[in-house]
Amino acid sequence: MKRRLLPVLAGAICVLQSSGAYADDADLIKRGAYVAVLGDCEACHTAHDGKYLAGGLALQSPLGAIYSTNITPDRDTGIGTWSYDDFVRLMRRGIRKDGSSVYPAMPYPSYSKMTDEDLRALYAYLTQGVAPVSLKNRAPDIPWLLSARWPLAIWRLLFAPSPAPPLPSASHDETTDVLVERGRYLVEGPGHCGSCHTPRNLVLAEKAQTAADGPKYLSGGFIVDNWVAPSLRSDDAGGLVGWTSEDIVAFLKTGRNRHGATFGAMNGVITHSTSLTNDHDLAAIAAFLKTLGPPPGVSVETFRYDDAVSRQLFAGKMPSEGAKIYVDRCAACHRTDGRGYPGVFPPLAGNPVLQGPDATSTAHIILSGGRLPGVSAAPSSLVMGSYREVLDDQQIADLVTFLGQSWGNHGAAMTAPQVAKIRQATTDERRPAGD
Ligand code: HEC
Ligand code: HEC
Ligand code: HEC
Repeated sequence: MKRRLLPVLAGAICVLQSSGAYADDADLIKRGAYVAVLGDCEACHTAHDGKYLAGGLALQSPLGAIYSTNITPDRDTGIGTWSYDDFVRLMRRGIRKDGSSVYPAMPYPSYSKMTDEDLRALYAYLTQGVAPVSLKNRAPDIPWLLSARWPLAIWRLLFAPSPAPPLPSASHDETTDVLVERGRYLVEGPGHCGSCHTPRNLVLAEKAQTAADGPKYLSGGFIVDNWVAPSLRSDDAGGLVGWTSEDIVAFLKTGRNRHGATFGAMNGVITHSTSLTNDHDLAAIAAFLKTLGPPPGVSVETFRYDDAVSRQLFAGKMPSEGAKIYVDRCAACHRTDGRGYPGVFPPLAGNPVLQGPDATSTAHIILSGGRLPGVSAAPSSLVMGSYREVLDDQQIADLVTFLGQSWGNHGAAMTAPQVAKIRQATTDERRPAGD
């Protein structure tokens, strides 16, 4: 899409030259630009069509919208007057320069695990490598009584009491242990993958912050904008048991692989962060994820293809209403055998999206369609149309139920009232199917 690492780096170097900085700084700033990619700062701190890192993106919370802030080095509206210590206090403890606490929509419980080395580089980049933009921060749309920030301090003390010691990081050693440790750092620290992939408690704290906290870590189920963030552990209830490390790397780098394609809240992670992450670090992330066993009591059987449904469909026998709709509306791309055209139209047979206990994502993508983002390693952007105006709630429920039970899939069924709720809560930004 629009913003890539290279222009950002080129910008960094221009700003630098004009400020007359030395080559050592240039290196530090360049490393900091990469740390900003690993931390995906852009995904939240740049508004749609807004200036780079100038904030203003609305993030929904149960109390109302919270707006990301201006983290460009502008002295009046950004962080231009923040010292390195001010910055570290925010990144490790969630305390702003004025002493108040930030909302945990800013994932500082994860960033608290970043090394000093990475935070120094990031600070150098943000203060010297990013163009200052004058844009005032916007107050949260939260009723004033509820918007007091002191409860956030209590939340902070309960759920992010003291910064964890920074994790071991860097090293370009290829031995498995070192690779796994680097992956742990990237996932638990800057990558903040748990902020979507770990279930949360009633006050929205992640139930586990690290792999060492137990098997709830990255066990999936948190719903972001009506998309389910699935388990990244080795289970067969929507998790990655059937994915090799190479499959994980391909997905993070290109947004697609032989099992499926990215959608929803993962699109931004791929376009601004993982597609720009280097191959060594992607291999490290994959190696770490492969060490995570299944949550207790969850099946680890790998998917086995069952051709009963494809044979029926091929012979023109429709086992259900859902099957009929599938053949009419979907099979042209995803095929009657559910195997799709991997890399182009994702397979639905064995796709982890269709093995989990919650089919929200499936109903959502049928209602709203999807646009697989193009990235430098896979530039084609592929589109699935929206069926919001074409299929009613019962038809979509039949379809979701059919997909979850065919070709060996063991996903959840859905009812029309469940579809109706998702229809209400979502909008359709794509073109209608068939256009
Ligand atoms: C998931 C969304 C998200 C991501 C990713 C994110 N931030 Fe934030 N950040 C926020 C929000 C929202 C706020 C404002 C919170 C508030 O108003 O309490 C914030 C606040 C901040 C602040 C405080 C600014 C101020 O003026 O008080 C800094 C500094 C900051 N973020 C830096 C970063 C950096 C650096 C990164 C990348 C390593 C990053 N953020 C990634 C959402 C995010
Ligand atoms: C024009 C080809 C096309 C048609 C027709 C089509 N799809 Fe898709 N489908 C796609 C593409 C492309 C994606 C990936 C979109 C993305 O990643 O945002 C996709 C993604 C999906 C996914 C998510 C799987 C994943 O890994 O991304 C599901 C579930 C799905 N389609 C179901 C259906 C159903 C049900 C129908 C019929 C109502 C249908 N599709 C019709 C092309 C199509
Ligand atoms: C903003 C929320 C968010 C963050 C942060 C996030 N993810 Fe995701 N992720 C999702 C959602 C939603 C999906 C489901 C869509 C899909 O399958 O493409 C997903 C899907 C995935 C999948 C595909 C799984 C499957 O079963 O299809 C992988 C692998 C993945 N994420 C890895 C990561 C890693 C590694 C990180 C951290 C670097 C990360 N994610 C951070 C929201 C997020």
